[in-house]
Amino acid sequence: MSTPSILPSAPAALQPGRARMGERFAAVRAHSLQLASPLSAEDQCVQSMPDASPTKWHLAHTSWFFEAVVLGPHAPGHEPFDPAYAHLFNSYYESLGPRHPRPQRGLLTRPGLDEVHAYRAYVDAAVQSFIAGADAAAWAAAGPLLELGLQHEQQHQELIATDILHAFSCHPQLPAWQPQDAPALRLASTTPPLRWLPHPGATVEVGHAGEGFAFDNETPRHPVLLHPFELADRLVTCGEYLRFVEEGGYTRPTLWLSDGWAAVQAQGWTAPACWLAPGDPRAPAADWQVFGPQGVRPLDPAAPVTQLSFYEAAAYAEWAGARLPTEFEWEAMWNAPGITQMTGHAWQWTRSSYDPYPGFRPLAGAVGEYNGKFMVGQLVLRGGSVFTPPGHARRTYRNFFPPAARWQCSGLRLARRCA
Ligand SMILES: [Fe+2]
Repeated sequence: MSTPSILPSAPAALQPGRARMGERFAAVRAHSLQLASPLSAEDQCVQSMPDASPTKWHLAHTSWFFEAVVLGPHAPGHEPFDPAYAHLFNSYYESLGPRHPRPQRGLLTRPGLDEVHAYRAYVDAAVQSFIAGADAAAWAAAGPLLELGLQHEQQHQELIATDILHAFSCHPQLPAWQPQDAPALRLASTTPPLRWLPHPGATVEVGHAGEGFAFDNETPRHPVLLHPFELADRLVTCGEYLRFVEEGGYTRPTLWLSDGWAAVQAQGWTAPACWLAPGDPRAPAADWQVFGPQGVRPLDPAAPVTQLSFYEAAAYAEWAGARLPTEFEWEAMWNAPGITQMTGHAWQWTRSSYDPYPGFRPLAGAVGEYNGKFMVGQLVLRGGSVFTPPGHARRTYRNFFPPAARWQCSGLRLARRCA
């Protein structure tokens, strides 16, 4: 796909800011296609479970979002690429009409991948024309929505990665998604011995305020009381988690929350989702292995453990004589001296329910459905993973998933009361 250029008719007084948006838009959109480029058309159509979506659906849905939120309401005369796509590629926006059921996205063999690529190119050109030519009122109204669309696409870029990994984990040959020489997607393996970093306790301000983008769920900024605690300076490693596995962690109900133990028994969990026990017939080996973007590799004991549910993270913390941090403890320690691996490695389960902050108000209009209506039955994860696009996450960012979800790049960092 060619990259649309900024049209020369952009109003001179607005051009620098709009030019930056145009370049950023092109870069984010291109990155989605780059992530999908190692995948065949068949790979991109598969849906391995109701919670995951096909790559092709992600590519189309993110384009639909720009049509539904930016172009349709704010670009006069915009004609949708195909009016039927609203039904196929609306995700969960009740206010934007009926939609295809989520668990059946893998049945969407039509439109084909080439048509979805054409859809993306059509939306790209329309958005670039809008950026260059919108009048001041339209730009003022839609500029923040355009930024939301880019942040939304970056979230789906991470889902492209985790969803295809889950799909490939179901394939008997456990194929690689990325080439072997893709170092950016490998977890760090230089983990030093764990150190505990103290916090004296205080009333601290949490949440987003000031410059830069933030989702509505990060606001309003507000004070919270923290009691004295200690936070681990790094993530729990595969080597540490292997001890938990080998010492019977998955067979001791007293370590688990009731719902977690029920999940262990119902799902037959014996190790993290991406781990292969010695002798696993899919890739026989004498030692533990881990399936990831580059296929099956030997377990790296110094790399952060990932693909954990909240239940597994909480059970490990119990076994280790510690606990999970609250999201506010985590946020308060973001830049503490000596802290490492806060972002760019693995999302970190917290002990905090995904609740609205005091005074929370969803965004106006359809995008009010973006975050607020999911604030029940989920736990907050903080940080950011190897699959999170650079620059997307931040100190106040709140990711969230149900406690049994374990196909994300999710690990843990320990906390405890001050010794
Ligand atoms: Fe979405």
